[in-house]
Amino acid sequence: MLSYVSLTSIVRVVFITLFALLLNVSIAHSEEDVTDIAAAEINPTYFKYKENFSVKRLFASRCSWCHQGYGLKAADGPRLSGTDKTKEKVIEQIAYGKSPMPGFRKQLKPWQIEALADYIKALPDVEL
Ligand code: HEC
Repeated sequence: MLSYVSLTSIVRVVFITLFALLLNVSIAHSEEDVTDIAAAEINPTYFKYKENFSVKRLFASRCSWCHQGYGLKAADGPRLSGTDKTKEKVIEQIAYGKSPMPGFRKQLKPWQIEALADYIKALPDVEL
């Protein structure tokens, strides 16, 4: 009887621990930022140009005042996630702009423009 009781309490403790772990994993998962996932996919391609390149840092410094939520949220500019423009059209838009958006070909290097385009195309079609 004694060993039966302690066995059930051990089983109970194990189940509670597993449940807590699973809950924790699912909470951590739901907090994953899709912009971080897209950036992590794109950044290493450009490490050859700049060590520890961060496309989100570049986006924050040049694009965020009009495109918020790292591209997930419309502000002065439209939401960029899920754009129906091709990568080539996105590059063209960033390089030459379209009023009121300025062109960035004089301020950014071609690889930086391409990195931004890759990032935008890697974003899932979601809105903040
Ligand atoms: C001064 C505000 C402003 C800034 C800064 C800005 N944009 Fe824009 N952007 C806009 C506006 C407004 C549009 C919509 C233009 C239109 O098509 O009428 C736009 C459109 C776009 C589009 C086309 C979206 C689509 O699906 O048609 C892309 C891609 C884009 N911006 C990327 C960027 C990137 C990358 C940066 C930073 C390098 C940036 N923009 C900086 C205002 C801005």
